[in-house]
Amino acid sequence: MPEVLITENIIGEEMDKLRERFDSIFEPNLWKEPDRLRAMIPDFRALIARNQTQITRDIIEAGTRLEVIARAGVGMDNVDLAAASRAGIVVAWTPEQNSNSVAELTIGLMLSLARMIPDADVDTKKGGWNRWKYIGVELLGKTLGIVGLGRIGSLTAAKARALGMEILAYDPYVDPESLRAMEVRARLTSLEEVLALSDFVSLHLPETDETRGMFGDEQFGQMKPGAYFINAARGGVVKEDALLRALQEKRIAAAALDVRQQEPAVPSAFDEMTNVILIPHIGAQTREAQRRVVTAVARDVTAILNGEEAKHFANFSKPRR
Ligand code: MLT
Repeated sequence: MPEVLITENIIGEEMDKLRERFDSIFEPNLWKEPDRLRAMIPDFRALIARNQTQITRDIIEAGTRLEVIARAGVGMDNVDLAAASRAGIVVAWTPEQNSNSVAELTIGLMLSLARMIPDADVDTKKGGWNRWKYIGVELLGKTLGIVGLGRIGSLTAAKARALGMEILAYDPYVDPESLRAMEVRARLTSLEEVLALSDFVSLHLPETDETRGMFGDEQFGQMKPGAYFINAARGGVVKEDALLRALQEKRIAAAALDVRQQEPAVPSAFDEMTNVILIPHIGAQTREAQRRVVTAVARDVTAILNGEEAKHFANFSKPRR
């Protein structure tokens, strides 16, 4: 009987070893077929996925043999963690393994916005040589407002400091003492102040009941006029219609979105806007992050299937069923 079901494109040396050891089914597009996944899941002891497989309560409850759900990544918005915990299933994940890649992408997006690099590239390839159209801004001396100062937010802060930026941050779950201990040089303040004073605002929050739809007309209205907005966290945190209004009314200068309210994204007015950078959720898509993520996930699944403890888990280290 097969033991491991892999529903997304999760490959690498450690996954090969896992698949040699345990009878596995690799269906990288199964995330698109939740009904088939629900019908298949009763056979498996392990389910390995990224962020596209919706691991809902009914799928978890149908997984009567499941011992571990392994999330190759950090966002937990696609896993019903409470249902998995109730069922005694370990939820393994890979915090920290891709944080640096996301922080680097954020800096890349900030520079791209500041210097209009994507639009200048398209324009030049079309035959333009419009040097005066592309007068950008420097990051030196500007203020970056970070909303959510966890692992990725802190790494982004450190990299932005190195570029000469001042950092303001909003995170109700972080206290100034721990920031000092971790040597994160950011001033924690209210969300209103972060929005009002920052030249660039970057989101680094998970999508939860608390944060879903958190950025709407009110928040975009509070941003400094002409500021830039970056979201490489979760699309559901932002009301895209409100962002569109803020851009169309020129209240903010430009935006970069790595994540969308609906993924894969559907056509929208953003597609036509030269001051909007759209990329397909590639924050963690580096060779290094993928190697670390895949290695961590494969090792934890192997450990659980061998009756040992997982190293990186969101609920408990061994199954409780
Ligand atoms: C994550 O949550 O780790 C990232 O968004 C990337 C991913 O899920 O593949």
